[in-house]
Order: sequence, then structure tokens, then C-alpha cells
Amino acid sequence: MQTLPPARWSPAFARRTRGASGELAAILALASGSDLITFAGGFPDPETFPVAILAELTTCLLAEDAAVALQYSPTPGLPGLRDALAGRLADTDGRRPADAELMVTSGNIDALGLLAKALLDAGDSVAVEAPTYLGAIDAFRGFEADVRGVPVDDGGIDVAALERLCRAGSTPKLVYTIPDHQNPTGITMSAERRAALVDACRRHGVLIIEDVAYRDLTFTDERPPTLWSLGPDIVVQAGTTSKTFFPGVRLGWAAGPAEVIAQMVLAKQNSDQCAGAFGQRLLEEYLRGGHMDTQLRASNALYARRCHRILASLGVHMPAGISWTRPHGGFFAWLTGPDRLDTTALAARARDAGVAFVPGRPFYPHGGGANQLRLAFSLATEDDIDEGIRRLGALITSALEN
Ligand SMILES: Cc1ncc(COP(=O)(O)O)c(C=O)c1O
Repeated sequence: MQTLPPARWSPAFARRTRGASGELAAILALASGSDLITFAGGFPDPETFPVAILAELTTCLLAEDAAVALQYSPTPGLPGLRDALAGRLADTDGRRPADAELMVTSGNIDALGLLAKALLDAGDSVAVEAPTYLGAIDAFRGFEADVRGVPVDDGGIDVAALERLCRAGSTPKLVYTIPDHQNPTGITMSAERRAALVDACRRHGVLIIEDVAYRDLTFTDERPPTLWSLGPDIVVQAGTTSKTFFPGVRLGWAAGPAEVIAQMVLAKQNSDQCAGAFGQRLLEEYLRGGHMDTQLRASNALYARRCHRILASLGVHMPAGISWTRPHGGFFAWLTGPDRLDTTALAARARDAGVAFVPGRPFYPHGGGANQLRLAFSLATEDDIDEGIRRLGALITSALEN
């Protein structure tokens, strides 16, 4: 076999990419291992994909609107989809964004990248929940930001800790938060905490990025107000249809102060220029046909069953000393063990036993989480959940005994 020459190009890599961990790509790869019971990736179940309706809409679009659907789109998005998204925000958030306050993005991660590109100079500080979505940590670090963790408790981000950071002279430029069914903890921020966060950030002049990736995936009727509806002058809401519609079209939105949205549109002009028009037209027709709410009802019933099952299974199979969150929506539960539990080592043993999860460490910007792990319940069947948690319980019990 031919041997490869030694690596020559790494010295040429840009400084901002050298620390990139690749952990996200590893998780995506783990989630697709066919012989595994996977609690790893935050993937929607393909059972929720609206295949028949998409087939119908596709035929219609190709017959009647190919010139738009197959063409480039304006950078802020097609006017029809922006109108449909604005109408939906009026219904769900009680506020309709003005035209200049809304843009279509190529998924949520695109919105985070555009915000970083538009707002962050090297060394600027960004506060994130600790733990948080590791794709967001990567997105901000990709623009050489100094990412700082702020603790979370059962009510969401610790606003008092954030204020202490500001008072100590380390006011961040941005605060990134996932208020609903957070990734990775499953925790939802209380209404009081939301008001306090908006108030604190307004006083300190900090822009909030509100990631609502899991907001619509709720198992209860409780819907605390969005941060954007409380502070449209200081909040950019980044939404996605990846978990609700399907991720194959990579679509999302950003709603925020017109000045910030305009700068994000500029930033998009020299990245992918526009989200794909075909997906945009599909989503617009889907929303206008009233299909999203039907899909959400079915998806939420499925994910609620799985959530209930994993919580019940954890109760049966976890040894003493292990605690976990009890989400009311979204895809994730978060486990915490005693300090001596090493979840990175456990992940390798679990993999050998045919179970995948994500250990806690990568969700923290500066250490922590070594005794924690994330379980996604969105993709495993109920029988697999029982079997996977049984195996995991046995591995944790044996790890704690040794
Ligand atoms: C909190 C959060 N935000 C954003 C994303 C990515 O969304 P998108 O597929 O729209 O880029 C994810 C996906 O895992 C997520 O968990």
C-alpha cells in the first residue's frame, strides 16, 4: 500500500481554525452508526418528515414556479417566505417583525456565523450558557472570540453571574442563550429570568442572541415569552426549521434590530449569498398550507413519548448518585454523576457495548462537565431506549464500583 507523505499544510492553516475540535463532526458520524443505539446527535426522527406533502408541493412548484424555485434568491430571502415567517412570528411571539427586521438563513448555524462575522473582532468576548450547544462555541471561536461560560440552573442562565461579569469590567459584546428546552440540558428559562436577562442586557448594552431551535417542540402548553418579543431592540432571535420541518433544506431565520439584520445580510453576501430558493418556496407553501402545526402535533406526541420513556428507564436503571434533568420538550436530557465519573472514558466503553451518547466536556467553553453527559431521545425507538439505558446503567454502575 502506498504511504502518504507527511502532512505539509497544517502550518498554513488560519489561526482561527487551528483550535477547531471537530467534535461536532464526530457526533454527526456517531449518530449514523447503524449497529448502535444512539443517544448522540440532536437529530429529528425521519418518521416526522412530511414526505407525501413534499412530493405534492415539489410537483406543483416545478410545474408552476420553476423560474423562482430553481433560481438564486435575494440575500435576505424570498419575499413570500419572509412574509409567511413574519406572519408565523406574529402568531407565536405576538410581534410581527418589520421587513427590515427579518432575514432567511441557511439554518440556525448560518445565523450564528453571520452574527459572529458581522459583530465580532478577534478577542471580543461572548457569554454563553455553561453548558451550551457546542456548534455555537465553535461558531464564535471561528471568529477568534473569547467565549465565556455563565452557569445555568433550573431556571436558565444565572443572570446575577452575568451581571457580576459585566461589573468586573468584562462586559461581553454578545450573550448567546437557548431559552427553550436547552441543548444540552433540556432546561427551559423561567419567565422571570427572561425578563431579568433582557433588563440586565439592556442596562449593560449587550446584544442577546436567542436560539429558539427547540421552542416549538414542546410537550406542554406553557410558552413563556420569547426574549425577542420582550426586547426586540436588543435581541436577535435565530430560528431553524431543521428540527420541526426537516434539516435537508437547511433553512432558518433571524429576527432582530434592523441595523443588525442589515449587517448580517451584508455578511451573507460574501458567504453563501442566499439560502436555496427551492427549499424556501417549499417552506413557504408548507406554512401557508397550515401543515406545520399538524406536523408539530405529531412530532411532539412522538418526542413526548420518547422523553417519558427515557426518564422512566433512567429511574429503573441508574445507580444511586446519578441525577438527570426532566425536560418538557426538545430532544435532550442531561445526566450528572459524582465527580469520579469520567464520561469521556465511559463513552468509549459504551460504544463497545453498542450505545452512543455525548460526554459533557465539549459543551463547556473552559472546562467542566467531565462527570456529565447528554442523552438525545429524539431518534431511538422506545424499545431501544430501554435497552440502551439498561446497558448504560450497567456501565455506570460498574464504573462507580471500580
Ligand atoms: C441549539 C441549537 N441551535 C442550532 C442548531 C443547528 O441548527 P441548524 O440545523 O438550523 O443549523 C442545533 C442543532 O443541533 C441546536 O441544537
